[in-house]
Amino acid sequence: MLDGAEGPVVAEALDYLVQLGEAFGAERLVDITYCHYPAEMAIYEGSVEEAVAYSARGGRVRVPTTTSTLCADLERPASTGCPAALATLQAQVEGAHRRMGMLETYTCTPQLLGFVPPFGSYIASVESSAIVYFNSVLGARTNRGGLFTRYSAITGKYPLMGYLLDDNRRGTHRFDVHVPPKHLATYDAWCALGFHIGAIVGGAVPVITGVRPDRQEWLLGLGAALATSGSVTLFHIPGVTPEARTVDEAFHGQPPQEVHEVTLQDLDAVYERLTTIPRGSAVDFVTLGCPHYNLAQLKNVAEKLAGRRVPEGVRFWVCTNRMTRRQAEYSGYVQAIEAAGALCVADTCPVESHMRLSTCREHGLRAPNVEAMVTDSAKMARYVGDLIGCQTALTDVDSCIRAALSGVFS
Ligand code: F3S
Repeated sequence: MLDGAEGPVVAEALDYLVQLGEAFGAERLVDITYCHYPAEMAIYEGSVEEAVAYSARGGRVRVPTTTSTLCADLERPASTGCPAALATLQAQVEGAHRRMGMLETYTCTPQLLGFVPPFGSYIASVESSAIVYFNSVLGARTNRGGLFTRYSAITGKYPLMGYLLDDNRRGTHRFDVHVPPKHLATYDAWCALGFHIGAIVGGAVPVITGVRPDRQEWLLGLGAALATSGSVTLFHIPGVTPEARTVDEAFHGQPPQEVHEVTLQDLDAVYERLTTIPRGSAVDFVTLGCPHYNLAQLKNVAEKLAGRRVPEGVRFWVCTNRMTRRQAEYSGYVQAIEAAGALCVADTCPVESHMRLSTCREHGLRAPNVEAMVTDSAKMARYVGDLIGCQTALTDVDSCIRAALSGVFS
């Protein structure tokens, strides 16, 4: 490959990976089974154009490759207010990705679409919430792939380094959670737990004891939050995640570097930190679906909105991927959500959309005019404060829906 036997694009891609491996002392390259690829977003200058040019050079992916989120809902960009020029530019990546043989999923939760790499398999992924899920919950092995994901998709290789190696998957910090289960029975509570632990552990490997996540989405929210306040790439929950049947196994038989106790007060502090909207004040945006919601979550929202109406002046986005939205249409969930005046958004989310203040500035768009956003996701709450410049509240899904229907955060 390096000698160009498979063409210059493959040779170049492998050369980048060899350089990466050499820089980090990798012994060799390994075969990967799957890639989750960064959807080049139109909000980054030149990103789409570069992807289109790259695809024209003839690169083809060798392993199943899904794509991450875009800045627009490509099926109906006007619904989210995405300017036509930006949406048209963004749409060009579809052709580029198709030419390269990628699967146009455009989501941060490809695992919900059945992309579940086998335990122990090497993969290359972007999107911190997906990466931490692949590593921790599925036991696949990936680093934060970044732009090198492209070269892995083209070559089917990645250097044996980082979280691909056994040693780096050993737990480092133990977190003993003393929170009554009834306070860990909602999605947002798992986000709060992850946000608290991530802020302490940074980029290390937490081992979380004393908890029993009963829902897939709780693990998703936990991981996304760990990767937001920290840069966690792998966590273990003894008895739950596959590399930690016991605490001892999670630490590979060694003692933890640090031990922390987690109490309800710690979770309360996260809610306090991520909630800057005073109770009783007006709300003009509600967001659910960070990471992208699954079908059951859409069903729940549809049922709670049935026969209700979101008032004028409140935007309510429920974000998911395009396949789940299509599936939800069959069941009437999208229709129920949208009959209430909310929007079932695919491919994107507020954080990744044209609403970023920097994007508005660069493209001469009107600022998004969001004052106060309520969400059930710690990741969303953390990022929109800075990127969209609004006040935020982290709360449970029922309170989010109540806020959307009343226009008030109660
Ligand atoms: Fe997904 Fe956007 Fe959240 S990409 S993880 S919904 S910030």
